[in-house]
Amino acid sequence: MTIRELTLNNGVEMPALGFGVFQTPPEETRAAVEAALSTGYRHIDTAAAYGNERGVGEAFRKSGLDRADVFLETKIWISDYGYDQTLHGFDKSAGKLGVDQIDLLILHQALPSEFDKTLEAYRALETLLADGKVRAIGVSNFMVDHLTTLLDRATVVPAVNQIEVHPYFTQREVQAFGVAHGILTQAWSPIGGITFYRDGEHRSTLQDPVIGEIAKAHGKTPAQVMLRWHLQQGRSAIPKSTNPQRIAENFDVFDFELTGEQLVAIDGLDTGRRGGPEPADITLESFGRPIPEA
Ligand code: A2P
Repeated sequence: MTIRELTLNNGVEMPALGFGVFQTPPEETRAAVEAALSTGYRHIDTAAAYGNERGVGEAFRKSGLDRADVFLETKIWISDYGYDQTLHGFDKSAGKLGVDQIDLLILHQALPSEFDKTLEAYRALETLLADGKVRAIGVSNFMVDHLTTLLDRATVVPAVNQIEVHPYFTQREVQAFGVAHGILTQAWSPIGGITFYRDGEHRSTLQDPVIGEIAKAHGKTPAQVMLRWHLQQGRSAIPKSTNPQRIAENFDVFDFELTGEQLVAIDGLDTGRRGGPEPADITLESFGRPIPEA
């Protein structure tokens, strides 16, 4: 295993550093993904709920790259949970991406108050995996209690749990559960983008003095230091940017190494404060919305 490639629990290889398109408007997605693919990213993370899968597919086709050389990951939204609905959710995503097979398909959120529906959605992922329509399956924003119930009731251990992880919020107990059960942690908002615009408190990971000092010592940027921290700790990370210069900056992380002390110093910045929605509070009533057909 190198720092660039991670092997999932079913043997599938995945580039550790992916390119994220959360909140990238559909009309900008194609250009951003084109820039990412020409920079060298070979893993793109999108979601049905982002409304930009089509742009990801267009950029992939325009790149001329072989299908086998680009790892495509997307997510089923909660409004498509249920066995048949989730099977159809695959058709919608694959249709928009313009591919027959998706490399990694994950459930976007647990629905804690309707966990049976979540389990039915996961059972559909297991069917898609058995049928070869997806190469790996997983979950996102699952906490330890959700994972525990899932492992109890499912056949396939999820390959990935994509959760909020950045220096200010590391979810150590969820990560440890993943390590114990062969579930790879994938970090969303890996450079703490979600911390940049907090109301009334502009404490951003990018301005953190500890990260800044480490960056200076290596002649790198704070974003590069945070991405390297993820990679050296064995996580996948999917930084988002629509700016070609920052897209390139975020991929230029393979020529330096953080010391053990520096990794520990970054671990020490955890505030325990979540930036994204509380996973226990996700309901269809508050977060549901229809996902259009392909
Ligand atoms: P932009 O798209 O204008 O580059 P995260 O993935 O951690 O949530 O971070 C995403 C946010 O960080 C976006 O606001 C993105 O804005 C910004 N961003 C991405 N890369 C960098 C970088 N290298 N330096 C500073 N900001 C960045």
